[in-house]
Amino acid sequence: MTHVTFIDAQGVAREVDAPAGMSVADAALNNRVPGIEADCGGFCACATCHVYLDEDWFAKVPAADELEVAMLASEAIDPRPNSRLACQLRLSDALEGIVVHTPERQYM
Ligand code: FES
Repeated sequence: MTHVTFIDAQGVAREVDAPAGMSVADAALNNRVPGIEADCGGFCACATCHVYLDEDWFAKVPAADELEVAMLASEAIDPRPNSRLACQLRLSDALEGIVVHTPERQYM
């Protein structure tokens, strides 16, 4: 299991444990963490799973591929350098303790 902390735009933290191999988006959905919609089911096609990586984690997470970068640029609300799509982040031992911030909103 991998421990994940989600912090919402108001600063409320929610902690969950999810199995390795599961995406951060599914970890949120399975634990009813608000702020992640994941409308496309994890196919990198909607950007409603947009999150901000905590500063301490940005360098530790594998870089986004071209499609994810394009989706963040075109579909995410208020993308920042630390933006990621939670459906593209796979949990593993290397991500034990990861912290992500959910945005104020996912839709225009
Ligand atoms: S769930 Fe649609 S892009 Fe992540």
